[in-house]
Amino acid sequence: MEATYQPGLENVIASETAISYLDVEQGEIVLRGYDLIELANKVTYLDIVGLLLDGVLPDAEQRRSLEQKLIAEYEFPQNVLTMLQLLPKQSNLMDVLRTGISAIACYDEELEDRSRDANYRKSIRLLAKVPQIVANGYRAVTKQSFIEPRPDLSYSGNFLYMITGKVPPETEEKVFDQSLIVYSEHEMPNSTFAARVIASTQSDMYGALSGAVASLKGTLHGGANEAVMKFLLEAGSVEEMESLILNKLARKERMMGFGHRVYMKKADPRAVLMREALAQLAREKNREDLYNMCVIGEEVMNREKKLFPNLDYYAAPVYYLLGIPIDLFTPVFVAARTIGIAAHVIEQHANNRLFRPRVLYTGLRGLHPQT
Ligand SMILES: CC(C)(COP(=O)(O)OP(=O)(O)OC[C@H]1O[C@@H](n2cnc3c(N)ncnc32)[C@H](O)[C@@H]1OP(=O)(O)O)[C@@H](O)C(=O)NCCC(=O)NCCS
Repeated sequence: MEATYQPGLENVIASETAISYLDVEQGEIVLRGYDLIELANKVTYLDIVGLLLDGVLPDAEQRRSLEQKLIAEYEFPQNVLTMLQLLPKQSNLMDVLRTGISAIACYDEELEDRSRDANYRKSIRLLAKVPQIVANGYRAVTKQSFIEPRPDLSYSGNFLYMITGKVPPETEEKVFDQSLIVYSEHEMPNSTFAARVIASTQSDMYGALSGAVASLKGTLHGGANEAVMKFLLEAGSVEEMESLILNKLARKERMMGFGHRVYMKKADPRAVLMREALAQLAREKNREDLYNMCVIGEEVMNREKKLFPNLDYYAAPVYYLLGIPIDLFTPVFVAARTIGIAAHVIEQHANNRLFRPRVLYTGLRGLHPQT
């Protein structure tokens, strides 16, 4: 087979999958046969968990059973919480999360079992525990007391409650749930690829997820949502937004939250959905100024660079209005994506071929050591 080289593996098919597919032409994100955006408007994040793990949307009984399985795994090793408290105050919350995931791996008695059933149970454990690492990891490094999960709340309601310390009103829980859905799975981004590469050595699900967290930390990937919010706060007003963007572009800097390797010159359907969610939330919270700033930013980037916003651009102000600390925006993305990554690890283990590509060698040859 002739070897070809594509920098950044652009347009290279890295894997077969029956999980998801970005149909850019049709503007559809296919998730096990469904349109992700339609799902986000009609079902809950818990249904997406069922769909990704079992391959079909759960009925009411199956949803209840899934919820019970998650609640049964809420118990969290105290030693890991104590360990997180030892981390320094300036820790990046993505590093705290990565550390927490590695630590809870050591408590999973099925860690080395790669069978489908064991991987399924590990996915449930991770889904139950990752939001707790996100919320209590933040509390650990900011020296606040820990918070217990509340089984009487929905999965998303409890997650938001653990972050903010307040039971969210129904409308806010709904927006947060929708954001988790649109973050849940997205074909083969850098982080999912990293997870599948790790899983392909027969390494375990926790290790694959930790690798994905490291990938997601970067500002070209998940870290963009935090960078977007910092930019919006720096701009501070509709008037400042345009000039700040123009200055940035003049300095040849990237505007975070715009562009995408696959969509690039097309709208990200997830961003369109989150823009609607932001409009609603901004009205409710009397923060139409934030919404207007984002819309101006979108117009300027379209006019100047023909670039469209990606999900992170609109998820950032949504999370801000939900009262989520900025340092937790990317960890929340990880928590939402845990189910997507878990599904990919299960698929990789079920039909494995070790990833081992080749290189285009540009170094020297023919050298000999002096003797
Ligand atoms: C996501 C991203 C890494 C994809 O990049 P890519 O496929 O590698 O695209 P390239 O870096 O080749 O960019 C193509 C062109 O668009 C420009 N461009 C892409 N994204 C840009 C951005 N956010 N701001 C300004 N210019 C951008 C590049 O400068 C380049 O211009 P040039 O051809 O004049 O040099 C890129 O769009 C980006 O850095 N976005 C900001 C980070 C972000 O929001 N990440 C979250 C992604 S979901």
